[in-house]
Amino acid sequence: MARQVYISGRMVAETEAKISIFDSAIMLADTVTESTRTFRHKPFKLEQHIERLYQSLKLTRIDPGMSAEQMLRTTLDVFEANRDNYGPDDDCWIVHNISRGLAVAGADPTVQLGAATVMIFTQFMDLKPWARFYTEGCHGVTPVSRMVPSQSLDPRIKNRSRLAYTLAEMEAKQVDPAAQSVILDLNGHVAENKGGNIFCVTKGVLRTPSTVNCLAGVSRATALELAKKLGIPTEETSLLPYDLATAEEMFFTSTPYCIMPATKFNNLTVGDGQVGPITKRLLEAWSDLVGMDIVAQAEAQVN
Ligand SMILES: Cc1ncc(COP(=O)(O)O)c(C=O)c1O
Repeated sequence: MARQVYISGRMVAETEAKISIFDSAIMLADTVTESTRTFRHKPFKLEQHIERLYQSLKLTRIDPGMSAEQMLRTTLDVFEANRDNYGPDDDCWIVHNISRGLAVAGADPTVQLGAATVMIFTQFMDLKPWARFYTEGCHGVTPVSRMVPSQSLDPRIKNRSRLAYTLAEMEAKQVDPAAQSVILDLNGHVAENKGGNIFCVTKGVLRTPSTVNCLAGVSRATALELAKKLGIPTEETSLLPYDLATAEEMFFTSTPYCIMPATKFNNLTVGDGQVGPITKRLLEAWSDLVGMDIVAQAEAQVN
């Protein structure tokens, strides 16, 4: 069945979904966004994603023309319309992109000229790029480019202005094609990855940057909740590259892969170079939470 997508009040086949070349999404990358995933075809923490979406909309002063409750219902309708496109062992992304709508070159960008452009779609959850990192661990690399400072754009606003992240990720991948960026803020503190949050374990304490310089990731919150349940002490604090290099364990969190272990940081071995016990416990607890084996699902896609 052709994928059905939602665009500004209508559910249409994806080939029918069109936006103007003058849309502020294109003219200004003036777009807020969310990405949710399903586990066994059940959307995970969709309410939290919609809540964060409405916080981003409030801060960017974009009026989506519908309440959070309507957005939730519409999102579930989009998912249901596409559910049969995904096999029983597959899952999908559910993505929201909402722009301020039509823009005109040179016009006052603060004036919303018409209705916002509300786009919602699902997409096959392709886990192949991350599968090997669950056992091998990935390589975290600090790019030359720094985070856009929070004083300019609060990183808690989840937005599609992604040029800075894209360039930083490219710089990391020029060092090692399999690298994942560890972007620093202007003070040299660890901030986040282009699409994930960063954790380390130091003397048994799970540590992650506070949200002054990174997105308040839904997966970040899940990892912290699971750690508390397992009795693992946690700390939200400032971290320097030194802290990652000297940590016992390191990992990234994000919606698609949940937890991606890292065993190298700037070419230094993290801990003993193996995926660590706390990382493994958290991944297992996450699998228990969602009622399926997260690692096995990713590995099945490559085998
Ligand atoms: C910049 C950035 N940081 C962190 C994350 C992780 O957030 P979440 O766990 O809600 O997916 C994302 C997700 O896309 C992101 O874009």
